Amino acid sequence: MGAPAKPLTVLGIETSCDDTAAAVVRGIPPGPGEILSNIVVGQASAHRPFGGVVPEIAARAHVELLDQIVDRALEEAGVTLDSLDAIAATAGPGLIGGVMVGLVSAKAFALAAAKPLIAVNHLEAHALSARLCQGTEFPFLLLLISGGHCQLMAAEGVGRYRLYGATIDDAVGEAFDKTAKLLGLPYPGGPQIEALARQGNPKRFALPRPLVGREGADFSFAGLKTAVRQIVKGGPLDEQARSDLAASFQASVVAIMCDRTAAAMEMFRTTFGKKNETLHLVAAGGVAANSAIRSALQQLAHYQGFELSIPPAELCTDNGAMVGWAGVERLFAGLNDPLDAPPRARWPLQDIAVQ
Ligand code: KG4
Ligand code: ZN
Repeated sequence: MGAPAKPLTVLGIETSCDDTAAAVVRGIPPGPGEILSNIVVGQASAHRPFGGVVPEIAARAHVELLDQIVDRALEEAGVTLDSLDAIAATAGPGLIGGVMVGLVSAKAFALAAAKPLIAVNHLEAHALSARLCQGTEFPFLLLLISGGHCQLMAAEGVGRYRLYGATIDDAVGEAFDKTAKLLGLPYPGGPQIEALARQGNPKRFALPRPLVGREGADFSFAGLKTAVRQIVKGGPLDEQARSDLAASFQASVVAIMCDRTAAAMEMFRTTFGKKNETLHLVAAGGVAANSAIRSALQQLAHYQGFELSIPPAELCTDNGAMVGWAGVERLFAGLNDPLDAPPRARWPLQDIAVQ
């Protein structure tokens, strides 16, 4: 028997949207790993007056915040750059200005400390977060639901993803954010809708559930958002009606999530369900922080014979720990990147295949 693998310690930097984040994680795949520090500074208040993320404001804020956040992450973890095994940063997909800020810093740290650089795909970081938290083994069915993405995939290994379905219009987080805006709620809208929906009657408004029952595992939210807009335009809503609309919207999203995930479960079962092994479903991304979606997925998984893993809410939304962990996974697999690794605005997960 060879010597047991040594746990890897990696700094993870995340700047692809409106959170500036850095973390230090340590572990050996498949995990779980240890989060030695995890600093996230959200910029929501800077973007709130505009009702959404303004790329230039985000990039500038990342520049101003990142160095101190990295210092804090190293200090809280009790490590120095020299004691790390690698530096990982999100290299895309995301707002290009922000991605550049994080990636350039990571390159500078990697160069100065003579450590490997890992250019992480943000979606892969979300995808692998269940392994950081619970050590979920491959393969697993992945429901990736965030502000920019909404897709169902089979995760077969590091760098190996097979797409089952994706949104044909808005991402689900975008649908939450736009609906919140229509209801006069501040950005980011997901948590606001969730809170308002608690007071509401989900049966009050019969909202559309696009693509439910249809073949395949694609998503669509545009019709749902339009229906909400029509109701809002139809006249002033009192407090109860706003809550009822939020609850009805969330109920539609939950129904869509469950139907599309159930369809993908069948596809996944056909390919991976033969060996009499436990089937795994992982939900990740900011929208997986929603408790109505979490409990509906729990029921669905139970009914379909899948074991569900969802990271705790604070690791569903953007953070540096998931980026550091993706770094651990890639370094462990012998994958690192040259110092001229490019930042990418677009970078589909199914395109990162390791040859
Ligand atoms: O993963 P994330 O932090 O950033 C992206 O990569 O997009 O996801 C942010 C999205 C936003 O659209 C936000 O409204 C949504 O996740 N979100 C939620 C909740 N918390 C965050 N949506 C519904 N319910 C929540 N509790
Ligand atoms: Zn994200």
